[in-house]
Amino acid sequence: MVLGHGTTILPTFMPVATQAAIKGLTPQQVEALGISLILNNTYHLNLRPGTDVLQKAGGAHAFQGWRRNLLTVFVPSIFSPPINSNDAVQDSGGFQLVSLSSFTEITEEGALFASPFTGEPTMLTPEESIRIQHAIGADIIMQLDDVVSSLTTGPRVREAMLRSVRWLDRCIAFHKASGRDKPYDTANPNGMQESASPTNEGQPTRPEQNLFAIIQGGLDPELREECLDEMIKRKEDVPGYAIGGLSGGEEKAIFWKIVKLCTDKLPEDRPRYSMGIGFAEDLLVCVALGVDMADCVFPTRTARFGVALTFDGPLNLRLGKHAMEFGPIDETCPCPTCTSGTSRALLHSLITHETVAAHAITQHNLVFQARLMGNARDAILADTYPTYLRSFFARYFGATG
Ligand code: GUN
Ligand code: ZN
Repeated sequence: MVLGHGTTILPTFMPVATQAAIKGLTPQQVEALGISLILNNTYHLNLRPGTDVLQKAGGAHAFQGWRRNLLTVFVPSIFSPPINSNDAVQDSGGFQLVSLSSFTEITEEGALFASPFTGEPTMLTPEESIRIQHAIGADIIMQLDDVVSSLTTGPRVREAMLRSVRWLDRCIAFHKASGRDKPYDTANPNGMQESASPTNEGQPTRPEQNLFAIIQGGLDPELREECLDEMIKRKEDVPGYAIGGLSGGEEKAIFWKIVKLCTDKLPEDRPRYSMGIGFAEDLLVCVALGVDMADCVFPTRTARFGVALTFDGPLNLRLGKHAMEFGPIDETCPCPTCTSGTSRALLHSLITHETVAAHAITQHNLVFQARLMGNARDAILADTYPTYLRSFFARYFGATG
């Protein structure tokens, strides 16, 4: 997939940098891990630093010093933790922002929030969500969608699906009217700076901002089909599709059925993005079903709680049994943590009180996710994916962490 800031090889896992930073890592560190596409939350960037600052900075790439590809999405409250949620290691930011959750009301016009600063009601329309994403300048921008929990039943599920289709039309119309749905070749039309990345050699440096649609319809196959039919009709204006509204506590078997139903119908020549998926086993099943992209806070968040991901299953480095293990998390891992001689014992002794341990495990976990997807790609190309799946599952669930 060639975007404005280089090539991203599919399938790919996208780390989440909710507020313009992967917690604990510099953008240079993230790039050095080989990661070429990260995700920012539109809502958070709009609050802080805000579109005025972003526009002056020349977009979110320049603002956060990130030279590779960026995807922005408005993640509704049911999928995002309270702002400033303070887990193991996180700066407290400075602003005391209230949680999104209890303040959201969806109307046909848009999503209504209480401003976390003033408490004033603030309306986020589909048009405004695109305007904000234009100021941010991400390579992939997502439609505003109406999402309900996957456990919701009844007419609200259909209403949300149909509204997501109508909001997609409003996003497309606004995006097209801005001219940003096409490659822009004149000098700096939106204040975005030329990317300095050497990896952009031979790649377009000013391609369009690609607007992705989000398939909704809950766990109801008929509603999913209806949504797919409608959104695929708009294919000419939709360079990629996300599968939304899943991973909300539904049974795995149903989750897989819905993903398969979507991937079976989605056009072959558009990337498919399964939203909010991050467990290794889910990623591999989704890839088997035809998913190209996924994102989740899981690998970075679990790292801050001292859990390192390995092909033998997750490893809880807080446990006493690691106190005398002087080898790396994974002998075969090429990440900076494992190759620098950082031992499990050291991480165990630091994780409760030194943020550097969380940073080290975060780097390892992101490389684990990238290896998982890279191995999946290799197996698909070698036509050995079933074998890869079998050996992965035997090992991942065969050992104790
Ligand atoms: N994150 C996980 N699932 C979803 C979804 O369905 N919509 C949006 N906007 N974000 C998500
Ligand atoms: Zn490692």
